[in-house]
Amino acid sequence: MTIAERPPVIDLRDVTRTFPGTPDVQALRAVDLRVDEGDYLSIVGPSGSGKSTMLNILGLLDRPTIGEYVLAGTPTKNLGDDERAAVRARSLGFVFQAFHLLPRRTVLENVMMPMLYSGTPRADREPRAREALRRVGLDHRVDFRPGVLSGGERQRVAVARAVVTRPRVLLADEPTGNLDRATTREIMELFEELHADGLTLVLITHDAHVAERATRTVRIADGRVEEVA
Ligand SMILES: Nc1ncnc2c1ncn2[C@@H]1O[C@H](COP(=O)(O)OP(=O)(O)O)[C@@H](O)[C@H]1O
Ligand SMILES: [Mg+2]
Repeated sequence: MTIAERPPVIDLRDVTRTFPGTPDVQALRAVDLRVDEGDYLSIVGPSGSGKSTMLNILGLLDRPTIGEYVLAGTPTKNLGDDERAAVRARSLGFVFQAFHLLPRRTVLENVMMPMLYSGTPRADREPRAREALRRVGLDHRVDFRPGVLSGGERQRVAVARAVVTRPRVLLADEPTGNLDRATTREIMELFEELHADGLTLVLITHDAHVAERATRTVRIADGRVEEVA
């Protein structure tokens, strides 16, 4: 198959997500979004506009109320929870604002963790984790616990953990939200290196300086999405 024939990595078709309440909240309204292999997309929008809801759906952590999510050509609607977890482990990497590292585990153990579920042969896990940590410049910190690392180092560990399974797409929700400017720049440079190496990247942010570094941007406002550049 040539690249042109490949289905988009992400294909949201007319997706609405409603949270029940009085009144109901329409967090996403009839959203269409396609992300192709090798894209570097930023999603911007103010607080409460639906960004995390979108990321949760893209990450198979939540389901559309209406509409379809096709991931790398596979419709996800009828997948059961176990299948969704398996697709998540094999195909998706996550980076969050608050790092979400396990405090009692070493850096190396944290990075090995997702390979427990991704089908990576046991013997490959440690070398792969060490390679991912080398990739993010943290090979000298493998035996440390997250608590003694700086914020930027913790986020590097989280990035290593997200890419160690070689996902189809990396989903990042406000990955620089807890970082100062200099560290933000370092993490963005790291993302850009990974993108240059072929990683498909979807990055959610409310920081315009972060967003404009992507090759493509969509804006989300009140649950509706529009292409910016
Ligand atoms: N689990 C939930 N239950 C009810 N309302 C929710 C839930 N999650 C998000 N919302 C609402 O949906 C809207 C979008 O939220 P969210 O996607 O978290 O926005 P953002 O990440 O852009 O700040 C907000 O009005 C929020 O209050
Ligand atoms: Mg959010």
